[in-house]
Amino acid sequence: MSNKSLMPFVKWAGGKRQLFDRISERMPQNYNNYFEPFIGGGAVLFELQPENAVINDINAPLINTYRMIVSSPQEFIEYTKKLDSQMCDDGKTYYYSLREHYNDKLIKEEFDVELAALFVFINKHCFNGLYRVNGKGLFNVPYNNSVKESIDEESILAVSEYLKKVNIMLGDFEAACNGAKKEDFVFFDSPYAPLNPTSFESYTKEGFDVKSHVRLARLFDKLTERGCYCMLTNHNTEFINELYGNKGYRMDVVSVKRMINSDASKRTGEEVIICNY
Ligand SMILES: C[S@@+](CC[C@H](N)C(=O)[O-])C[C@H]1O[C@@H](n2cnc3c(N)ncnc32)[C@H](O)[C@@H]1O
Repeated sequence: MSNKSLMPFVKWAGGKRQLFDRISERMPQNYNNYFEPFIGGGAVLFELQPENAVINDINAPLINTYRMIVSSPQEFIEYTKKLDSQMCDDGKTYYYSLREHYNDKLIKEEFDVELAALFVFINKHCFNGLYRVNGKGLFNVPYNNSVKESIDEESILAVSEYLKKVNIMLGDFEAACNGAKKEDFVFFDSPYAPLNPTSFESYTKEGFDVKSHVRLARLFDKLTERGCYCMLTNHNTEFINELYGNKGYRMDVVSVKRMINSDASKRTGEEVIICNY
């Protein structure tokens, strides 16, 4: 039976909670291992709770947090609660001092439980839970306090218990799929393709450019030949249709609410769910 306490421990851009029902009704009935090469906040993983899972992301401090929650849940909880308890009236100054400390640890590559607690605290107190770094790799999202408690203790313990049996990888999505075999299920939720070609540049900065989308589409084809069940979500754009259309894949267009546009009439958009089965 699924454990209701399992929830993402970070707010994550592109989180798939809103689409979960439409994803789950399209999943294969049976499969062997579950692969999620762009795990982010893990909304789909924590809803599904598959028995044998491999998860991956290229974001090193994010993966460090997953790993620390597995190896040192109590310490992680204590560190995070301590950060919350020291929050003062001038939350903004406090946030920026922790952000500086976090970046200092990043430079020194101190991937430890303190970094994990700082990561979650900052994620919960920054603008929209965004993760953005500058050219030097330093986190630069401004303050926007919205929560009092950065974590739910019960949920962290449940997540820690569940993740013990999950293979947590750090790196590029292609390497993460090396072990995928026939009848395994691979769920791809990559960074979005740009809505219009003029925003290609900004995606290059994020590290997931047009070439990466092409590389992902090739991997999707390769895994299809291998006999894996693959599902992929993205914006319903011409570019994505060029990459996946006319290959015999099922392509379902679904509408979603987008909160980022200040014009309410433009807050719905279309996404596509692509399946190779
Ligand atoms: C749209 S988010 C995934 C959101 C996730 N489904 C959720 O519910 O929170 C995309 C993720 O891909 C990761 N990413 C970007 N480039 C990558 C790469 N080359 N290989 C693996 N992960 C990558 C980002 O760090 C980000 O966490």
